[in-house]
Amino acid sequence: MKNSLLAAIFLLATDSCNCLNLDFPLCKQLPDWDNELMCYKEISEDLTCTWLPAPSAPNTVNYTLFLKWERIQKLFKRNTSSPSITIERKDLFMQRSASIWIAVNYAHDSCVKGKNISLTPSKAGKCLTPSNINAHQITNQLKIKWDMPAIPTQYELRYREALTETTQWTLVPIESNAVNITVSNLNATASYIVQFRCIAKDGLHCVCIWSREILVPHKLMSKPRISYNATTEISPGRRSVLLKWEVMQSENILGYYIDVERIPNNCKDSRNRIILKDRNVLLNLSMAYHRVNISAYNNEGESPQTIYIVPDSSATDLPGQINVKPQGTDAVVTWTPEYSPKCFVVDWGTGKEDMRTKIVTTPAGNFTLDNLQPHKLYKIMVHASDVCQCENFTRHEKTFGVTHFYPVEGVPRAGPTNVTILNITKHSALVKWTEIAAEDCLGFLQGYRISYTDSSGKKWLAASVNSSTASYRLTGLKEKTIYRVQISGFTNAGEGLPTLSQPFSTLKYDKGEFEGFMIGIFFSMVFVLVFAHVICSLVFKRLKISCWPSVPNPRNSSAIQDMASTIPMM
Ligand SMILES: *[C@@H]1O[C@H](CO)[C@@H](O)[C@H](O)[C@H]1NC(C)=O
Ligand SMILES: *[C@@H]1O[C@H](CO)[C@@H](O)[C@H](O)[C@H]1NC(C)=O
Ligand SMILES: *[C@@H]1O[C@H](CO)[C@@H](O)[C@H](O)[C@H]1NC(C)=O
Ligand SMILES: *[C@@H]1O[C@H](CO)[C@@H](O)[C@H](O)[C@H]1NC(C)=O
Ligand SMILES: *[C@@H]1O[C@H](CO)[C@@H](O)[C@H](O)[C@H]1NC(C)=O
Ligand SMILES: *[C@@H]1O[C@H](CO)[C@@H](O)[C@H](O)[C@H]1NC(C)=O
Ligand SMILES: *[C@@H]1O[C@H](CO)[C@@H](O)[C@H](O)[C@H]1NC(C)=O
Ligand SMILES: *[C@@H]1O[C@H](CO)[C@@H](O)[C@H](O)[C@H]1NC(C)=O
Ligand SMILES: *[C@@H]1O[C@H](CO)[C@@H](O)[C@H](O)[C@H]1NC(C)=O
Ligand SMILES: *[C@@H]1O[C@H](CO)[C@@H](O)[C@H](O)[C@H]1NC(C)=O
Ligand SMILES: *[C@@H]1O[C@H](CO)[C@@H](O)[C@H](O)[C@H]1NC(C)=O
Ligand SMILES: *[C@@H]1O[C@H](CO)[C@@H](O)[C@H](O)[C@H]1NC(C)=O
Repeated sequence: MKNSLLAAIFLLATDSCNCLNLDFPLCKQLPDWDNELMCYKEISEDLTCTWLPAPSAPNTVNYTLFLKWERIQKLFKRNTSSPSITIERKDLFMQRSASIWIAVNYAHDSCVKGKNISLTPSKAGKCLTPSNINAHQITNQLKIKWDMPAIPTQYELRYREALTETTQWTLVPIESNAVNITVSNLNATASYIVQFRCIAKDGLHCVCIWSREILVPHKLMSKPRISYNATTEISPGRRSVLLKWEVMQSENILGYYIDVERIPNNCKDSRNRIILKDRNVLLNLSMAYHRVNISAYNNEGESPQTIYIVPDSSATDLPGQINVKPQGTDAVVTWTPEYSPKCFVVDWGTGKEDMRTKIVTTPAGNFTLDNLQPHKLYKIMVHASDVCQCENFTRHEKTFGVTHFYPVEGVPRAGPTNVTILNITKHSALVKWTEIAAEDCLGFLQGYRISYTDSSGKKWLAASVNSSTASYRLTGLKEKTIYRVQISGFTNAGEGLPTLSQPFSTLKYDKGEFEGFMIGIFFSMVFVLVFAHVICSLVFKRLKISCWPSVPNPRNSSAIQDMASTIPMM
């Protein structure tokens, strides 16, 4: 708003001549143009001046800085295309006061002039800004603290959103002698830039310049997103897991925390935290389940965590064999170690949410599990480790063997789903099904039994197939008969409940058979007709009797004529 207004004023300025200056006869003084011209003495005693870029100016604009020394007629001028300039020590009179202002040169010799400032270089050092500034953001507030200055000084503060360059600065006054301030009603998901400066007072003998920009990042609100995972076996019983992730607003992030936790974890307090700058991590783990929590952090704290469960390993290349002998609700687990580690870690349970663990230090590998639930599939893993404190397992254990067992096998509590009959012929039909869900098997599924009944209700067993089969062709069926198929799964404990198919009927003719039959009939008929016609013409030719009187023309039919005469009357 303000900028475009100024631009409009600049354009108008072309026409009106307010001839203030001989060098720039068309330069228009714009007292409203707050270009924030600031000049201060560097440590090198050069004088640096900065100002705001001219609003709505073309990409390249020439600024002229004017310096009018006290008691010197001639103006000192310097041109620049950037909104700052440094005047060397040799061009300065340190003890003399000067008026300084900026002019902007536009095309057609038009020009605008900003307000002027006056200073004496020797007294134009930069005032000290608050030291030890500590700024952070809590939800929608900025909380800023600083040290009490040695000389009581009054400050002001300004802030703007960090990412959007165009946002205007907001000025916040600070009470004198305050050492902290809270700015409220901000956007909790935006980062801010803050600057300080003192408020000039007589006798201060220094210049109040905006301090360096202080970035106050917002609290990280979104969790990293896993974008890549890869697992490779690196040695028997060990695997490496590579994870990569992506984040939003990575410019606010200082690094990442990676927490690795073994499941089950029998030492709750130990935290295996890795701190990284990169967005990927390579973890070397055993085949046990692991939970990896990843979060980003910055000065404001930690983002929410992403949880990655290192999945069940399907590794087959494990060094050891585990034998389980179920005994009701107990089971005795034995294994033969290839060497004698300090200890074994035994993990068992029905899934990653329900795993238990035990450290076994007896050299002969054997272990009794108790309180097992019948009809549930258990997974048991045995790991060998030479360091036997729980916080060291992640690094030192090697998986020795994995096996699955049911403490007591049951029969499937449901049959396969989605039994459909396809490709029905005269004597056969194809049955397809979807395998029984693992949780319905209640035992190791050995296979499926397929049987069928005809309309009389008599039942025949067609076949038993193994558990990886999901279709079977029934053959030897009777034609044009209604059948119904039953499929059940079986385990070592017996056969489970069957699923019944929709009834279906075998065909009367096979595909092709009926067509052949029809073609036969067609040709016979053609033959009969042609033959009859020939005989007929030969026998009756002389009698001049037509075997097939000519077909009457419907146009001559009285029925049509009657209809035609009735239509107009309707
Ligand atoms: C700025 O000054 C340079 C050299 O002094 C000149 O070449 C250029 O055309 C000027 N640009 C404008 C916009 O006046
Ligand atoms: C500065 O720029 C103005 C306007 O473009 C020009 O008239 C003047 O000669 C330039 N002065 C120097 C020292 O380049
Ligand atoms: C600058 O401003 C002072 C007063 O603030 C005035 O006396 C002086 O004439 C001005 N100089 C020029 C060159 O405009
Ligand atoms: C802020 O400063 C006031 C004194 O001006 C002090 O009482 C208060 O404890 C300070 N608050 C914080 C958070 O430092
Ligand atoms: C808050 O800041 C974020 C990030 O800069 C922005 O996407 C969002 O629109 C802002 N919300 C409001 C209400 O300004
Ligand atoms: C690992 O990545 C694959 C794709 O590469 C994805 O299908 C799978 O779900 C990922 N695994 C996990 C546990 O996120
Ligand atoms: C990982 O995150 C889950 C859920 O927030 C938490 O229960 C668990 O303690 C975390 N693990 C670590 C090692 O921080
Ligand atoms: C993981 O193992 C691989 C191969 O043995 C090795 O190169 C890598 O440095 C290991 N990484 C860590 C984090 O231990
Ligand atoms: C288990 O090991 C102990 C010795 O540690 C042995 O006495 C016992 O017979 C073993 N049990 C089985 C079932 O192997
Ligand atoms: C075991 O873990 C603890 C705690 O993390 C660690 O201090 C120690 O060095 C580890 N020992 C070995 C042998 O890795
Ligand atoms: C059922 O079987 C049909 C044919 O094999 C298949 O197209 C469909 O996807 C299956 N539906 C389910 C739920 O498995
Ligand atoms: C249907 O059954 C016939 C006879 O067994 C067989 O030749 C044909 O390939 C089957 N078609 C399909 C789609 O299974």
